[in-house]
Amino acid sequence: MSVRNPRGPMREGEDVIIVDPKGEEKMLVLKAGKVHGTHKGNLSHDDIIGKADAGRAWTQMGAEYRYFRPTYIQYVMNQKRHAQIIYPKDTGPIMLWADIFPGASVVEAGIGWGALSVKLLETIGPDGTLVTYEIREDFAESGANTVTRFLGECPNHTVKVGDIYQGIAERDVDRIVLDLPEPWHVVPHAALSLAPGGIILVYLPSTMQVKQFVDAVDAHGGFTEAETFEVIHRPWHVKGMSVRPVQWMFSHSAFLVCCRKLS
Ligand SMILES: C[S@@+](CC[C@H](N)C(=O)[O-])C[C@H]1O[C@@H](n2cnc3c(N)ncnc32)[C@H](O)[C@@H]1O
Repeated sequence: MSVRNPRGPMREGEDVIIVDPKGEEKMLVLKAGKVHGTHKGNLSHDDIIGKADAGRAWTQMGAEYRYFRPTYIQYVMNQKRHAQIIYPKDTGPIMLWADIFPGASVVEAGIGWGALSVKLLETIGPDGTLVTYEIREDFAESGANTVTRFLGECPNHTVKVGDIYQGIAERDVDRIVLDLPEPWHVVPHAALSLAPGGIILVYLPSTMQVKQFVDAVDAHGGFTEAETFEVIHRPWHVKGMSVRPVQWMFSHSAFLVCCRKLS
């Protein structure tokens, strides 16, 4: 059952986010008759199934939990993952700087856990197309599963098992988004694949990768308007008289580099 399902009562088989009294989240699949054991007693799934979204439920020891249908952020942040995902703080800016729009044709690589693919598909909508290259067959399968579990079947999503460094078959593509270690190998293929004015955006953890990619783009000559930045997300703690930045924050994920294809 996909997460992006219609409104209405919580149903058996759905993913649900449980928030404990300290604010810690956990994602479960609702199953009739099942209980979720906590250190504050058992929470019965039957107390959630059939109830409206975003409610409260109590353990038999009286501890209050809250439950929600997962948002995109809750879905991607509360999973066991086999690959590093693109974090939500970067996903939003990727959609803007790559200028992903409803109806766009997009090529992506690789799928990894599938976090970015989900948001690309939501943003392009049913009139767009997404082709995702992934070199590992097992990741192609599990990434596709992440997508369908959240969105349901997506006939406009094709996952191709293959090495994007060897080429891109698609032509007249609006956008290319890459999250893999050596995107400079893709520059000549992107030049053939992108429509004039198309955008390539790459996600790179280290400065040396950024330099190598920008050098490759400059040497190719078919791209312009290169822009590089990182996104700093600084959460605040707001409780009573304590209004300040949190003490620990996630300081670095990756740099975003984007540029446009010249005609
Ligand atoms: C960091 S993960 C991608 C995570 C994904 N963006 C997400 O948000 O879940 C990188 C993926 O790129 C794949 N990959 C690496 N080199 C590749 C290549 N040459 N062609 C296609 N996929 C490749 C890896 O197998 C891995 O699945």
